[in-house]
Amino acid sequence: MSGIGENGADFLVVANRLPVDLERLPDGTQRWKHSPGGLVSALEPFLRTHSGAWIGWPGVADAEVEAFEEAGLQLHPVRLSADEVQDYYEGFSNGTLWPLYHDVVAPPAFHRHWWNAYTRVNQRFADATAKVAAQGATVWVQDYQLQLVPAMLREQRPDLKIGFFLHIPFPPVELFMQLPWRTEIIRGLLGADLVGFHRPGGAQNFLWLARRLVGLEPSRGAVGVRTRPGVVQVGDRTVRVGAFPISIDSAGLDALARKKDVQARAKQIRSDLGNPKKILLGVDRLDYTKGIDVRLRALHELLENGRIDPEDVAMVQLATPSRERVEHYKQMRGDIEQIVGRINGEFARVGRPVVHYLHQSVDREELAAFMSAADVMVVTPVRDGMNLVCKEYVATRYDLGGSLVLSEFAGAAAELTSAYLVNPHDLDGVKNALESALTIDPAEGRRRMRALRRQVLTHDVDRWARSFLEALGTQTAI
Ligand code: ADP
Ligand code: G6P
Repeated sequence: MSGIGENGADFLVVANRLPVDLERLPDGTQRWKHSPGGLVSALEPFLRTHSGAWIGWPGVADAEVEAFEEAGLQLHPVRLSADEVQDYYEGFSNGTLWPLYHDVVAPPAFHRHWWNAYTRVNQRFADATAKVAAQGATVWVQDYQLQLVPAMLREQRPDLKIGFFLHIPFPPVELFMQLPWRTEIIRGLLGADLVGFHRPGGAQNFLWLARRLVGLEPSRGAVGVRTRPGVVQVGDRTVRVGAFPISIDSAGLDALARKKDVQARAKQIRSDLGNPKKILLGVDRLDYTKGIDVRLRALHELLENGRIDPEDVAMVQLATPSRERVEHYKQMRGDIEQIVGRINGEFARVGRPVVHYLHQSVDREELAAFMSAADVMVVTPVRDGMNLVCKEYVATRYDLGGSLVLSEFAGAAAELTSAYLVNPHDLDGVKNALESALTIDPAEGRRRMRALRRQVLTHDVDRWARSFLEALGTQTAI
């Protein structure tokens, strides 16, 4: 990207969060740390190699932070009050849209004051972007927290090229129609020149809603992956609607996993766990969509049925704290910790727990070491837009070791067909898949991993970003 000129930025990412999060320490000092979640994991490596601006919230209420530059990226903080964090972020974004878009796996709540805050904050993001974007700039708006921004921005700055990408699933129309503000959301998104989803199904649902709710005449052909976008004429503008499955910095992670230090750390982890025959690993934000309970229940029953010997197996679950003030999250944390306690209560012995549960985030090197040490990566969301963890695991396994158990309900399942695919609602199916993955013949394991790596290494985040920006028709060199 040509970056930031005197008259503003030519390329801007607008996301609820900045790639770094402001942390206030108990002694009153503050520091920046890496923000959680897949959006930042995916976009950050791409943005770091292409200068531009990133507009987002610094992650705490009432933070007064001026724009600053970090490693070639211009960061523009947007301030949220404590009430806005409650109503816009925890409320409408994560109490209404998140559960609704994830197939109502938890009941969404509909509150007018949450919607009002969502509208107000979206306007603030649009205003902040309008201020720093150069004439004719490309603006890439991200995710469900900012679905009104495209139309709000177009209103002020018709000169901009605006793309929007949704990082979570776009729900079936019957579920979306529950939303009292459904038409406003569709109109908000239609402010973009290109609206992108992970899967063609999401794009198709959106096209149907544009017809039903806004009375437009979208194209009727099937949307392809990265090809054949749908088209909607909105007045004199053409809006394209496509499927762009996101990915990771595959080569970067492959290189990280090959580092001597990382491999030494992986060995150390195995030894710290007591050198069990097999290690199972889960890595997630602590979110009720991730099916952490599913894998723990499956493990519990396998132990109870005597199909797994607790002496042979250790499971590590890394769980990043997430959205801790939202009710469903509090409840789920309690449930998960109870199952972990129960498994260890029944099957551990002193100094040898079966489940090692860490309610914390680890850095990239440590993550690569855990993944290198794990014989089976268990990814069992009940619904996930893409899921990057499974792709990260594959990228770290340059040795062709390890097996992946993956939910059919993760967007990644469409690409990672050589994984053990499971229906997370079918506990017996999950148990069978875990057992197969734990006892896999090494040659068959290598065959599967080779196929998975072929997919992940050739479809990385750079390819994702390029295909989106090319479809957006941005003039700036990518
Ligand atoms: P989501 O975006 O819903 O959190 P993804 O699987 O798409 O789910 O992305 C999660 C990202 O967060 C991945 O890059 C993953 O490595 C990282 N992550 C999740 N949990 C942890 C953890 N405990 N420690 C370090 N990184 C984590
Ligand atoms: C998912 C969402 C992102 C979000 C991330 C972390 O990846 O798609 O938009 O940033 O989770 O969640 P948080 O609420 O902490 O930003």
